[in-house]
Amino acid sequence: MRHFLTLADFSKDEILEILNIAKILKNEVKSKKYSTALANQTLGMIFEKNSTRTRVSFETGIYQLGGQGIFLSNNDTQLGRGEPIKDTARVLSSMVDLIMMRTHGHDRLEEFAHYSSVPVINGLSDDFHPMQLLADYLTMQECGKDKNPVVAYIGDGNNMAHSWLMLASKLGFELRIASPKDYAVSPKILQKAQEFAKISGAKIIITKDPKIAVMHTDVVTTDTWASMGQEDEKEARKKAFKDYCVDSTLMRFAKEDAIFLHCLPAYRGQEVSEEVLESTQSKIFQEAENRLHAQKGVMVWLHQNR
Ligand code: CP
Ligand code: NVA
Repeated sequence: MRHFLTLADFSKDEILEILNIAKILKNEVKSKKYSTALANQTLGMIFEKNSTRTRVSFETGIYQLGGQGIFLSNNDTQLGRGEPIKDTARVLSSMVDLIMMRTHGHDRLEEFAHYSSVPVINGLSDDFHPMQLLADYLTMQECGKDKNPVVAYIGDGNNMAHSWLMLASKLGFELRIASPKDYAVSPKILQKAQEFAKISGAKIIITKDPKIAVMHTDVVTTDTWASMGQEDEKEARKKAFKDYCVDSTLMRFAKEDAIFLHCLPAYRGQEVSEEVLESTQSKIFQEAENRLHAQKGVMVWLHQNR
């Protein structure tokens, strides 16, 4: 049985296979002829943090595949009142067929998966957001940006930056990450990416200079300066990141036909300008919709590979 906790656990072929399933399922949505691949299956969705896209895309996704989702927020479950993860995992997995969990420490997900008798999907942890990256790469494929692309990630060395490291190093493309001092990616995750890169031929560049990162790139992306759980650091982060806004001046360093991606929610005037977000280069809403299709791809793939 496989879980989907990070892209580090998947081969290039497996990632592309999941995306192919996602594309087939996307066409089914367009023609309103839904697959029944997960008929009568139940997805438990544990949210220890807020969500708009992840919740709606998983709940809609399982419904479109013939199953149903149960939304479990920390306000409603005993997990929120301190019931141990290992007990919750064994109880829930004895009742549902698939579990998605959005949580804080990645170790919580790993512990949950260890005790779960059904596949567990990472809906975001402090370290990784792999579902988002599948949607991002699907968007790159649809925009013709998947042939030896160069991608620039500007900003915080957070769960999104880590997930880009995993995607690039598994698929073998060039990724440049520009972060301010003290907000760089985790050295441990970077080392893992560099090991994968030796096999895939990926090129990973870490810099403090956003212009160097963006120069002649095909894709420019960023994320919030203060992730969920970092609310108290907001003001300090605004100061540290002030030169890391993706605005039209910075976008001019990228290729003329470069696209802009953002996992959303976006904070206009901070990590990205309103002008870039609303420009024709911005593919953020296509990217957001692709969460639905990519997630359906993962759920079907996990079911097929049980
Ligand atoms: N991008 C993303 O995961 O959005 P939500 O937090 O709304 O789920
Ligand atoms: N880095 C952000 C991503 C939100 C989708 C966070 O963890 O809050």
